[in-house]
Amino acid sequence: MVRSFTGEAVSGELLAELATEALRSPTAGNSAGVYFTILEGGQVARYFEIATDQPWRDRNIRAAGLLRAGAVILVTCDARAYVRRYADHDKIGSGLDDVDGWPIPYWLTDAAMATMSLLLLLHEAELAATIWGNFRDDRGVLALGEVPEEHQLFATVIVGHSDGLDHRSASLDRPTPSRASRVRRLT
Ligand SMILES: Cc1cc2nc3c(=O)[nH]c(=O)nc-3n(C[C@H](O)[C@H](O)[C@H](O)COP(=O)(O)O)c2cc1C
Repeated sequence: MVRSFTGEAVSGELLAELATEALRSPTAGNSAGVYFTILEGGQVARYFEIATDQPWRDRNIRAAGLLRAGAVILVTCDARAYVRRYADHDKIGSGLDDVDGWPIPYWLTDAAMATMSLLLLLHEAELAATIWGNFRDDRGVLALGEVPEEHQLFATVIVGHSDGLDHRSASLDRPTPSRASRVRRLT
């Protein structure tokens, strides 16, 4: 993840191409309920005004670098597409034609898959990015993106050109179980 950008714009056309490609990611039952909304130009500053607050912008050492992003991509998903799909004749026995019937809300799973694909495609295009959580006023962010209010904001991808001034994330220095130890073989 990169959280410090140069302030250069990023081609919206390129982002739209990469985002479209990222939606090749699988979706449960091919429900296709994941969406990307690309915010560019003045919308980037507007996004940060809504999604963060002044105390955070004043105190966070990464705020300045993040605010120099060239674009912001909202990842949203629409649970209604899944409920509709699982009411189809080939899925109706599943009990998933009701939003509360899903033990794992696959619209979020699918949003995560598409987000990872997008991050990889951005990296391949030599752009820098970070996945960014929702901290404040999801509804305001959805309204900025002119996204239907029934969508859920899964996460946001902040995109730009790296300026090499990133502050190393404290998360990276946490002791974590190694990747190899988290792969098990029952031999
Ligand atoms: C679901 C999810 C939410 C995340 N939210 C944030 C976030 O809000 N802000 C942030 O700076 N990084 C966020 N991250 C990035 C993680 O902190 C980062 O991936 C992790 O520390 C490992 O660092 P690396 O991806 O650079 O290897 C998020 C990652 C995931 C998967």
